[in-house]
Amino acid sequence: MSTATELTIRRPDDWHLHLRDGGMLKGVIGDASRHFARAIIMPNLVPPVVTTADAAAYRERIMAVLPKGDRFEPLMTLYLTEGTDPDDLEAGHASGLITAVKLYPAGATTNSHGGVRNFENAMPALERMAKIGLPLCVHGEVTTPEVDIFDREAVFIETVLDPLRARLPELKVTMEHVTTKDGIDYIKSSKANLAGSITTHHLIINRNAILVGGIRPHYYCLPVAKREVHRLALRAAATSGDARFFLGTDSAPHVDPLKECACGCAGIYTSINTMSCLAHVFEQENALDKLEAFTSLNGPAWYGLPVNDETITLRKRAEAVTYPEKIETEAGTVTVFDPMFPLHWQVV
Ligand code: DOR
Ligand code: ZN
Repeated sequence: MSTATELTIRRPDDWHLHLRDGGMLKGVIGDASRHFARAIIMPNLVPPVVTTADAAAYRERIMAVLPKGDRFEPLMTLYLTEGTDPDDLEAGHASGLITAVKLYPAGATTNSHGGVRNFENAMPALERMAKIGLPLCVHGEVTTPEVDIFDREAVFIETVLDPLRARLPELKVTMEHVTTKDGIDYIKSSKANLAGSITTHHLIINRNAILVGGIRPHYYCLPVAKREVHRLALRAAATSGDARFFLGTDSAPHVDPLKECACGCAGIYTSINTMSCLAHVFEQENALDKLEAFTSLNGPAWYGLPVNDETITLRKRAEAVTYPEKIETEAGTVTVFDPMFPLHWQVV
């Protein structure tokens, strides 16, 4: 175990974040902008962000509620549909507004019903993206009812992602929120144009957190947490320093009544305590010296953006650092991720 008690790193970025809209956006934006300089903003609003004009309007709504004094850059994405206009993508990318395009297989997760069913129909957009170097962020799960939910990521890699990458080798693909050893191995085996983001919570929980001793809806997210062997593979990849892996929290707030019910929503809210949790994980793995690569260097390198000039300092305190169990927003109460161990690292 390392004995460091202070760590200064480049200011981190979050390469996968749900900010929502309206009262929820207002309630969660400050938790993201407090520590993170930039974030890739997910487009799965209701209705989704499908055109460059939608993204421009959403960006303005985000900037309008940013706490005064915070410098935070939302990196906007478009939600890929079978009707996405390649010219609109290209114009959005050329203007600097659009950083990536998000693929949700239809039915895979929250507000994904407008996503892609038949990939042939999305090929014109995907071909254009490959041509202009606009990255595709992928929710990598098949939705076929016959496929077990714990196998959906592995089956997606084999039946969708690998054939797509073979067809469009120039397409730059971020496999988001990787949850399996299969995903890690696939990324490691690729020669080019593939990287993966990993969430904070998938480094900490396995599927027992959701199911042992009662159903715990606040640990339910998609892709669902897997067996311990997968969590260990994620931890090894995240703490290895390998430039193909970086942080994407997938912090995804839902109000408590929508989590604590007979058919609860997927999503875990981690913006507020992510850096504390990650320092704990990296220290446990004797890899505090790799935290900066994971949170602040590998992501910008992949997306072709400069690293942040500013730094943040984390300090390890003898007493536990506490975070609120819940936050209140105008949309309702949101439960904060509980890592189930005391946190001692704090951003000062
Ligand atoms: O857990 C998740 N929540 N996974 C997703 O893919 C979507 C997200 C959400 O929007 O709530
Ligand atoms: Zn997400």
